[in-house]
Amino acid sequence: MNSTTIITIAIAVIAVLGLGVVLTATRRSDMSGVGVLSRETRKRDRNAAKTARKARHDVEASAVAVRSSAVATMPVAEVEPWVAPDPEIIGESRRAFLNRATFTLMSASLGGFAAALIAFLWKGAEGGFGSKINAGKVEDVIGQIRSGGGFFYLPEARSWITEYPKESLAKAELVYGGQAPVLAGMSAGVIALYQKCPHLGCRVPECKTSQWFECPCHGSQYNRVGEKKGGPAPRGMDRFGISVSSGFVVIDTGTVFGGPPIGTNTTGQEAEGPNCVGASGDH
Ligand code: FES
Repeated sequence: MNSTTIITIAIAVIAVLGLGVVLTATRRSDMSGVGVLSRETRKRDRNAAKTARKARHDVEASAVAVRSSAVATMPVAEVEPWVAPDPEIIGESRRAFLNRATFTLMSASLGGFAAALIAFLWKGAEGGFGSKINAGKVEDVIGQIRSGGGFFYLPEARSWITEYPKESLAKAELVYGGQAPVLAGMSAGVIALYQKCPHLGCRVPECKTSQWFECPCHGSQYNRVGEKKGGPAPRGMDRFGISVSSGFVVIDTGTVFGGPPIGTNTTGQEAEGPNCVGASGDH
C-alpha cells in the first residue's frame, strides 16, 4: 500500500468521525428542550402549592383551637375548717385504752399462772417429783444400792436411797418415832434422803471413800443415813416417807420430813476412808 492510499483512507475515517460528532451534538441540543414547563403550567403549580399550604395551616390552627378548649379545669376543693377536739372525748378514749390494756395484761398473767398450775398438777398426777414414785422391787432397790457402792440415786425422786441397818432400828424408833412413813422405810431396810442440803440448798453428792454425803458448797457432812457429821448445816438431811406395796418401794415425794437434829447418830457409822470435802468436825 502506497502513501497516497493511506492518506485517502485516513481522510475518510476522519470525515466519518467528524460526521458522528456533528450528529451527536445536534441530538443533545434537541434533548435540551424536553421537560421544560411552560409559564402557565409553572404559575398553576405555584398557585396549587400556595393553596395546599393555606389548607394545612388552617387544619393546624383548628386543631390547636380544639386542644386549648378541651383542657379540663380542676374543681375548687372545699376545705373543712379545723375544730379543736373535745378534751373530754380525748380523756374518755385514753381511759378506755388504759382499761383495755390493764384488762389484757391481767388476763394474760392469770392465763399464764393457770397454765403453769395445770402443768404442775398434771406433772404431779403423772408421777413426777411431788408425787408417789415407784422405785422398783425391794430386792432390786437393794441391789441397785449395793452395785452403786452403797448409794442409789433416783433422779425423778431427787433422792438418794441407801440401806438402813436392821440392827439400828431400835435406836431409829426413838429418834424417828414421830415420822412414821420414814420409819416404815427404815423397817423395810431403805431410806430416801432428799438431795437438797439443809444448809443452803446445794445438791449433796455421795463420797464413795468416806461412805458419807459431803456437800461441796460449805462442807456439811452426813453419814450414809443422812445424820449430820460436820459442817454448818442446822440438821441432818431431809427425807421422804416410804411404803412397801406388793413388794415395791414407793417413795412419797409430796411430803418432806425434816432431818434429825445435830448429834443424832443411830447407826454409829464413822468415815470409812478419806473425806471428799475437808475433814469432819463439829460432830
Ligand atoms: S449448802 Fe451444803 S453446806 Fe452449805
